[in-house]
Amino acid sequence: MNKKKKNILELTEEFTDEEKKAFYKAIYSRRDVRSHFTSRIIKDDVIARILNAAHHAPSVGFSQPWNFILIKNITTKKKIKDSFEEEKNRSSKLVEEPKRSKYLSFKLEGILESPVNLCVTYDPSKFGPFVIGRSSIPEAGLYSVCCAIQNLWLAARTEGVGLGWVSILSNDILKEVLELPEHVVPIAYLCLGYVDEFAQKPDLETAGWLPRLDLKEVVYFEKWQDTKNVEWNQIQEMIKENLDYA
Ligand SMILES: Cc1cc2nc3c(=O)[nH]c(=O)nc-3n(C[C@H](O)[C@H](O)[C@H](O)COP(=O)(O)O)c2cc1C
Repeated sequence: MNKKKKNILELTEEFTDEEKKAFYKAIYSRRDVRSHFTSRIIKDDVIARILNAAHHAPSVGFSQPWNFILIKNITTKKKIKDSFEEEKNRSSKLVEEPKRSKYLSFKLEGILESPVNLCVTYDPSKFGPFVIGRSSIPEAGLYSVCCAIQNLWLAARTEGVGLGWVSILSNDILKEVLELPEHVVPIAYLCLGYVDEFAQKPDLETAGWLPRLDLKEVVYFEKWQDTKNVEWNQIQEMIKENLDYA
């Protein structure tokens, strides 16, 4: 059997137990990474695979409203870092002490330390103006870009590449520095690089900023805030606590 035929067959088959394990491993071991970047360069074929995974995300009306801007120019990175510093300082004024000092002590970006920065943008004009499924909920286009980012994040983790999302930035500065057209919206500014560790838990959980909620606190049955429903007895038992990762 030639290679192409074999690949198509594999894509239509059920996942094996090993493949399921690998899939969940990517999900549970994915982390937002802001430090521990190493000097190892990310080869172009790895970047291409990660971008291709992002590009295969679902999108409303198959509009594929994303673009990916790869950045390694140090002058560009420094301008973005300046915006981060300004926004972090500005946002710190929104929170009272002692939380403010704690917030200011967190490392919340890896713009200069990571070898590759990547801006993911949303272009509402792509294949528009009529996009199937976007006429009632215009934000569906933006949601599609977020699906692409999650694919990208999981693919990066699978490749051993760390990724950190920086949202403490001015979109106006991003648009100006990256020369985005007026109608294009920056959705995510990401820092990518190999790291020497992926933490077991989110940094903000380890730092005691916020806990992970129990699964049972976020699942309702049939209606908002209905947590006890006889039709759903068994699953209620199962999600009493966060399930083990295994
Ligand atoms: C939309 C979005 C914006 C984020 N912005 C930042 C940010 O500006 N700086 C930062 O350090 N982490 C940022 N994060 C990462 C979150 O803090 C992180 O996902 C969360 O604490 C859970 O940790 P985990 O991703 O390691 O599981 C962002 C994540 C998302 C989804």
